[in-house]
Amino acid sequence: MSTVLNPVIAPAPAAAPFRPGPLGTHITIRGLTKHFAGWPLYENFDLDIPKGKIVSVFGPNGCGKSTLINMIAGLVPIDAGEILFDGKSLAQTKIGYVFQNYREALFPWLRTIDNIAYPLRLEGRSKAEVDARVQELVASFDVKFDLRRYPYELSGGQQQTASIMRALAPGPEVLFLDEPFSALDFEMTLFIREKLQEVFMQTGTTMLLVSHDLEEAVYLADQILLLTKRPTRVAEILDYADARPRTVETLSEPGFVRMKKLSLEIFQREVRK
Ligand SMILES: Nc1ncnc2c1ncn2[C@@H]1O[C@H](COP(=O)(O)OP(=O)(O)OP(=O)(O)O)[C@@H](O)[C@H]1O
Ligand SMILES: [Mg+2]
Repeated sequence: MSTVLNPVIAPAPAAAPFRPGPLGTHITIRGLTKHFAGWPLYENFDLDIPKGKIVSVFGPNGCGKSTLINMIAGLVPIDAGEILFDGKSLAQTKIGYVFQNYREALFPWLRTIDNIAYPLRLEGRSKAEVDARVQELVASFDVKFDLRRYPYELSGGQQQTASIMRALAPGPEVLFLDEPFSALDFEMTLFIREKLQEVFMQTGTTMLLVSHDLEEAVYLADQILLLTKRPTRVAEILDYADARPRTVETLSEPGFVRMKKLSLEIFQREVRK
């Protein structure tokens, strides 16, 4: 005689509800997973990025800083997880991206002014609107070079200035910058750094900045996101609240020096692990 077991059917586990970030969160990342060639880079990674702040991403070489911002910006596909901007999808969000390599970022066949106007034209704005917005950017960046020139006729710093103007033209909700200063000379770095800070103070645009220069990362940041070696996790998030505008004097102030030292200690701890 066989006994018929009455199987107990376990209720299907309810899908975990989306966990929103704390008040003031702009970008919510949940369960982000990304593998390259079978190796995990991010595994079930959660992060909240605050709105209207500059977040500097810092971590060991190859830990996935660029990949992180590229996944958020939709340039690199994710394997699993969810990324929301104020609860909206990327497609519903206006973003800007400034590439490290400005030489390849601008369209060489367009005059600089047309490069800057490009995203505005793409949005279908009228000629008058496009002209007005470009003039606004020219004034705000205090542009001294001739925007009718082609990108190859400009210096590196001028090209990167134009790239930033193009990224900002449509008024993005989030601006991504991957090592935007690394190909610039020192003078141009200082100039663009100040411009970015000015634009940030005018617009309050959320910015995600990858930098391999710790001083630069701290100088511009409201928050320093320190990452571990891969598989990458958040090592620590530091808040740096010194008043803006930050200036050359800021670099020797105790608050700045302390923040830089602390970031370096966390970085070294992670690299040595
Ligand atoms: N398309 C790809 N295919 C395979 N592996 C990749 C790819 N892109 C990135 N990786 C690997 O993923 C890891 C993270 O790369 P990523 O460029 O994001 O690091 P990073 O922190 O920006 O590095 P760096 O400090 O050098 O700029 C590295 O080990 C890299 O080799
Ligand atoms: Mg990188």
